Amino acid sequence: MAPLDSPPLPPARPGGPAGPTRAYASTRTRRHARAGGPLLQVDGVSIDYRTHERVVRATHRVSFDVHAGDRFVLLGASGCGKSTLLKAVAGFIAPSEGEIRLQGRTVTQPGPDRVVVFQEFDQLPPWKTVRENVAFPLLASRTCGRAEAAERAALYLEKVGLSRFADVHPHQLSGGMKQRVAIARALAMQPQVLLMDEPFAALDALTRRRMQEELLGLWDEFRFTLIFVTHSIEEALVVGNRIAILSPHPGRLRAEINSHAFGLHSLGGSAFQATARRIYGLLFEGQDTPSTEPAATPVPGSVEADAAALARGPRTAAGHGALPFRISV
Ligand SMILES: Nc1ncnc2c1ncn2[C@@H]1O[C@H](COP(=O)(O)OP(=O)(O)OP(=O)(O)O)[C@@H](O)[C@H]1O
Ligand SMILES: [Mg+2]
Repeated sequence: MAPLDSPPLPPARPGGPAGPTRAYASTRTRRHARAGGPLLQVDGVSIDYRTHERVVRATHRVSFDVHAGDRFVLLGASGCGKSTLLKAVAGFIAPSEGEIRLQGRTVTQPGPDRVVVFQEFDQLPPWKTVRENVAFPLLASRTCGRAEAAERAALYLEKVGLSRFADVHPHQLSGGMKQRVAIARALAMQPQVLLMDEPFAALDALTRRRMQEELLGLWDEFRFTLIFVTHSIEEALVVGNRIAILSPHPGRLRAEINSHAFGLHSLGGSAFQATARRIYGLLFEGQDTPSTEPAATPVPGSVEADAAALARGPRTAAGHGALPFRISV
């Protein structure tokens, strides 16, 4: 069957209402926040993959803190260890060195307080309906009983604009809709930290832009804590309020940038571009902004694509000035 059209989301409500928002701030979280402690601490974390032949160091002594309500972005080139770090926060991989603490407690295993949304469209069990997909982790983790799981599934499907599709199966949805289901499923768990690993990277440019907008709308409403992995400078600036910049393999923390002032409204603006250039410099410290086009065609939305756009410079002939980051929408 052909994919169904993606329905638009209801408009975001800036400021965020009461109601479900409160569910994210458990008593323990509030106490911890009042005490001034970060929600999540990544403290000197190195992660190694051991194969028969060798040991691959994916990240080297990375440290950062994530506070409640942050939209914290991990940005770096392919292979720098972003997914590895996210998996370690999720509890799927143990650090070889250092520690990850959630509300002061060492992370040793996965838990319903950390939920991951992946890039792949096949993260939803195909034999379950959309509604069942959203309710399933709530039941499997015994987070709540059947009635509340059904209620939460209905609520979060409505929030991502998919109420009408609750009873269809994933293969009947477009890629963007599948990602919305994955987001609804994650939010329904009301995790302490929502982890997203390039969730929009496999989408077409326009859908990707729309999903960024919708994610920010959901954040406005629910104020969840997000760790978002991307290798697009533009996406990092749009989605994040703080950006951790990682060096190429093995990933080390190069810098942290405060990006709360940027959003979709700032695309193409001079401050946005200046920050993007600064980030590029930090990502490839010691390398100049390339003065020629790279030989290979870079993947749209990647660090490499952003670099190519920087190299091309202003497109004044087209009449829209220096907007290199528009190319990776
Ligand atoms: N299971 C594994 N076994 C061995 N090495 C691995 C494994 N998974 C990842 N690596 C290596 O660890 C490094 C970091 O990989 P990771 O997938 O975390 O990078 P990434 O920043 O997420 O890249 P991308 O942007 O391409 O997704 C890479 O050098 C990769 O080859
Ligand atoms: Mg990755």
